[in-house]
Amino acid sequence: MPLSIHPVDPVGRPEFAGMVAGIDVRRPVTQGQVGEIVAGMDKYAVLVFRGQQIDDEQQLAFSRNFGPLEIANSDVRRDEDRRLKPEIADVSNLGKGNAIMSRDDRRRLFSLGNQLWHSDSSFKPTPAKYSLLHARVLPAKGGNTEFADMRAAYDALDDEAKAEIADYVCEHSQQYSRGVLGFDFTDEERLKNPPVPQRLVRRHPGSGRRSLFLSAHAGAIRGMPVPEARALLRDLTEHATQRQFVYAHEWRAGDLVMWDNRAMMHRARRYDPSEVRELHRTTVADDRPTLEQAA
Ligand code: OGA
Ligand code: MN
Repeated sequence: MPLSIHPVDPVGRPEFAGMVAGIDVRRPVTQGQVGEIVAGMDKYAVLVFRGQQIDDEQQLAFSRNFGPLEIANSDVRRDEDRRLKPEIADVSNLGKGNAIMSRDDRRRLFSLGNQLWHSDSSFKPTPAKYSLLHARVLPAKGGNTEFADMRAAYDALDDEAKAEIADYVCEHSQQYSRGVLGFDFTDEERLKNPPVPQRLVRRHPGSGRRSLFLSAHAGAIRGMPVPEARALLRDLTEHATQRQFVYAHEWRAGDLVMWDNRAMMHRARRYDPSEVRELHRTTVADDRPTLEQAA
């Protein structure tokens, strides 16, 4: 069966979130298939591959078709507590020995930052391009992942707003996103991760469209008083995450969801913390900082 991609919502939003059929991610893929997937990503920015029973090695091999992977080093987990390979982000509520983390476990509290709208690794000098998230174990209810389309959100701004924000440069840091939830870093952790600059409006190379590069990690705009910057970023985020721009993914075990962080924000939704939720993420790095990309 050849690879095909159909809109998840053909009537309401035919250009947003695609369902991929005709591919077994466990098998090596051809350059032709990689090209079709990249073209699908440029169009939809979120692709869903259902029923993929892959292990970590297969997820790594598939992900590497799209570029070099990030190392998933957490700032609050000690290396000896790591459950998975360095290139796999552990998106779960499990600690070592696969036990559910206690409610006040610092690693768990840190990971709750995923419930704020964000773009992956926007706090790194070169942020993420694609993320690939694979569902292993899911709670009985809750725990959806939502995606908001930053190209559509940009398009919907009026001309005055587009002109105002055209050249803004934001500062991104996990200190801002975690600070919103009242999570405290140690001084040592803080020094490890100084804020990085990112363009607020960027051009998505594959589609040529502009997109709003918002993220919970953005906490300042260069040349603007901080409260004014945060009020503006909040306002833009509120605009960009209205329901007409959002696709809510209801997970099934075996789903692999791939999204383009240059064109999407996403967030996790709450679930019962006494149940296991385990997903594994691989992340393809972008090739350079946003300030070095064509505007
Ligand atoms: C991520 C993330 C959301 C979720 O893996 O980058 O934000 O629903 N996950 O777990
Ligand atoms: Mn994320």
